[in-house]
Amino acid sequence: MRHNLAMRILGIETSCDETAVCLIEAEGDFGSSFEWKVLGNALISQAALHAEFGGVFPNLAKREHAKNLVPLLERALKGSSQPAVGGGQLTNSQLSTLNLILEREPELLEHLIPFLKHRGKSDIDAIAVTYGPGLEPALWVGINFAKALSAVWDIPIVAVNHMEGHIVLSLMDTGNTESHSNVLQNVRMSGRLADFEFPLLALLISGGHTELILSKSFCTYELIGQTRDDAAGEAFDKVARLLGLGYPGGPEVSRLAAESRRQGIPLHTPALPRPMLHEDNFDFSFSGLKTAVRRLVEDKEVSDEDRMGIAREFEDAVADVLITKTMRALEEYGANTVLVGGGVSANEYIRKQLDAACQLQATSCKLLIPPPELATDNAIMIALAGYFHALKKEFADPLALTAHGNLKL
Ligand code: KG4
Ligand code: ZN
Repeated sequence: MRHNLAMRILGIETSCDETAVCLIEAEGDFGSSFEWKVLGNALISQAALHAEFGGVFPNLAKREHAKNLVPLLERALKGSSQPAVGGGQLTNSQLSTLNLILEREPELLEHLIPFLKHRGKSDIDAIAVTYGPGLEPALWVGINFAKALSAVWDIPIVAVNHMEGHIVLSLMDTGNTESHSNVLQNVRMSGRLADFEFPLLALLISGGHTELILSKSFCTYELIGQTRDDAAGEAFDKVARLLGLGYPGGPEVSRLAAESRRQGIPLHTPALPRPMLHEDNFDFSFSGLKTAVRRLVEDKEVSDEDRMGIAREFEDAVADVLITKTMRALEEYGANTVLVGGGVSANEYIRKQLDAACQLQATSCKLLIPPPELATDNAIMIALAGYFHALKKEFADPLALTAHGNLKL
C-alpha cells in the first residue's frame, strides 16, 4: 500500500551514452527518516555502439535515446506494477501539444503516441529529468520526453543537475538492498540516508568531470578544485585506446592493472608522473599522464606484459593524485566525511585505496561511496535528487526548460 506522504518520482537520464528510466517511491526528508525504494528500473547502455568511435558520438547517442526511451519507460512501469488507468484516445489538443514538443524527435513521437493511448495516466507525482551537464543533443531528448509526459499526464517536472544526482546517490545507504547483481533492470532496491556529518568533501570522478566539492549542508555545494584538462574517466578512456582496449576504458584498464598486481609482475615501465600532486591547490590535470603513456607505446612493440604494467602504473598514478589531494583538502577544510561519486568510483583499486586512506586519518573519517553498479550513470540517482527538489516544490517551467551542456553545481 502506498503511504499518503510518499511521493512517486519518475527519473529520466540521457546526458551521455546511457538511456535510463526508473520509478521510485520516497518519503521523508533530510533529518527526518528519509526512505526510498525502486519500483521499476530500466537502462540501456550504448557503450558497445560508441566503441568503434572510441568515445561517445553525440548524434548517435541522441538517436539511440529517442529509440530507447519509450520501451524503457514501458519496462520501468511494468516492473513497478503501475496500473494503466484510463487508457484511450488522446484529444486533438494533446496531440498537437505532443507534435509541438517532439517536433525534433519524430521517432520518439511515433513510439510515444501509441504508448500513451494504450497506457493512460500513471500514478506519478513528479518527473525528474537531467538537464545538464552533458551532451546537449542527448540531454534534449530526455528533456523533451519529460515535457511531453508532463503535458499529457499533467505532472510537474523537476530539472536535475546530473552531478547532484551522483552526490545524492552516494549519500544513500543501500545496505538493505536485496541484490546489486542486476541493477540494470527491475531489481528490488531500497535505501535511506547514510549516517554522516557535514561538512563533507565530495570527489566527483566521471567521464566529463573531476571535481572536489565542499558541502557544508544538505544540497549546498562549493567547488574547491577541478581538472584543468581531461577528466579522470576521460584519461582512463584515452589510455585504454592507446593500449588497444575497448570503450569505456575504465573497466578495461582496471582489469589489466588488477591482473598485473595479481601476477606480481615487477614493473618494467618507468614511473608515470603524478601531475599537480605537490601544487598548493586542489586542481587536477590528467592530460600529461595520457601523453606519457602515449610516449611509452607509440611506434613500439608492446607486449601483453608491458600493457598490464602500464595499466597498473597509470591506475596507481591516478589513484595517488586523486586520493592525496582529497585527503589534503579534507584536513584543510576540517571535514570528516569523504563522498565519492561518478563512473570512476566503480574502480575497485581506487575504492580500496580510498578506504585505506580514510582509515588512516587520525579520526578515521567516513567514506560514502556508491555500490559499483550505481556508480555509473543511471536514472535512480536522478529520481533521488529530483525528490528533494520536488519536496520543496522546486518545479521547472516546461516552456523555459532547456539543456545546459556545461551546467555547474
Ligand atoms: O558517471 P559516468 O557513468 O558518466 C559520466 O557522467 O561521464 O562515468 C563514465 C566514466 C567513463 O570514463 C568510464 O571509463 C569510467 O567512468 N569508469 C571507470 C570504471 N567504470 C567506469 N573508470 C575506472 N575504473 C572503472 N572501473
Ligand atoms: Zn555521470
